[in-house]
Amino acid sequence: MMTCERQSCCTRRHCLLFTLAIAAVFFIHYMNILEMGSDWNPKLWMQNHSPKLFIPFGELSPNETMEESTSSSLEYPETERQPSTRGTTTPQATTVLQTARATPVPYVSPGPYIVEYPYEYRFTINEPHKCEQEQPFVILIVQVAPNNRPHRDIIRSTWGAESLVVGKVVKLVFLVGQKTGEEAEQLQKELQQESNEHHDLIQSDFIDCYKNLTIKSMVMLEWVNTHCSSASYAMKIDSDMFLNVPNLINMLLKAPKTNYMTGLVAYGGPVLRDPSSKWYLPVEVFSQAVYPPYALGLGYVLSVDLPKKLIEASRHVKALYIEDVYLGLCMQHLGIPPTNPPSGNHFHVVPLSYNRCTFFHIVATTLHPNEDRMWLWKDFKKNDPYC
Ligand SMILES: *[C@@H]1O[C@H](CO)[C@@H](O)[C@H](O)[C@H]1NC(C)=O
Repeated sequence: MMTCERQSCCTRRHCLLFTLAIAAVFFIHYMNILEMGSDWNPKLWMQNHSPKLFIPFGELSPNETMEESTSSSLEYPETERQPSTRGTTTPQATTVLQTARATPVPYVSPGPYIVEYPYEYRFTINEPHKCEQEQPFVILIVQVAPNNRPHRDIIRSTWGAESLVVGKVVKLVFLVGQKTGEEAEQLQKELQQESNEHHDLIQSDFIDCYKNLTIKSMVMLEWVNTHCSSASYAMKIDSDMFLNVPNLINMLLKAPKTNYMTGLVAYGGPVLRDPSSKWYLPVEVFSQAVYPPYALGLGYVLSVDLPKKLIEASRHVKALYIEDVYLGLCMQHLGIPPTNPPSGNHFHVVPLSYNRCTFFHIVATTLHPNEDRMWLWKDFKKNDPYC
């Protein structure tokens, strides 16, 4: 009995211990699963690791890490300078490359969203002394297509003719690139003739097309920096604009003299992801959802210290083809935000219909393509009260 009792006692104790041990094993196992967290979740694990898994090894250069190659940051590493990748290289660059490797580097297109900049573009028509005799308060640079002589002529006989305004000197140049194709040679002759006649043309040797406007704006900054740094301000303006020059001068007389960029400033501009959009950018080229503040390309003003700083910044920021956004990115790199104009009524991107009183108060507006701009100017300048 005793034995039996003892035996049953022992069995019961063993059962209890056994159960506790099993419970402990399950408990520890359960805790381990919880601690494994996201790595143990197959779906999350794939999300975290798949981009790295799908890079073909051939695309990685030996000293490039996986992290660098998958990030789509716009800024170049500080040590890395963007080399010119066009087929032709400058004599200096060629020497450097030849010492580095025996065979010439094959031409690599930067793709459709990045333009060929920095690069040593040359001026094929120039006005190097434009800002020497009288130092302008403002240099106006009109970006226009090489074959758009009609727009240049209208500007020459309207707001472009205003050369002394409220006692301040205003100078004007037109900036064009080059055309390719059959009419190129004839057009070049006409441009040379137009330049001899008006002495207000600047031409550089990049191909002038919509996708190259960033090159155009950077070449413009180079020209201001090299040939017109005696000015106080530079203004980029499109050829389809109306400009109220006295209002521009009056605005600038009260403006900061350095680190100043103004115009119609866009805040939180969304990056367009629809491939059919005119300003499409894929995530791989620009990963953020919004752009930093930037002044719209229709017309913006810079204090003349900025061109040099922006050219320097452009060596560290990938040259996106959207020119105004690109300058915004360079401004962000410099840590200088664009400044709003003193009035929200100063710059207009949606064409304002002509009204003498309205136009008296603005600085710049886009015009309807069918607006008679010669008549408009005559009416605007007539000797009557404005409002
Ligand atoms: C932009 O200009 C560069 C330099 O002239 C040229 O190589 C490139 O083909 C041009 N881009 C387009 C889209 O024409």
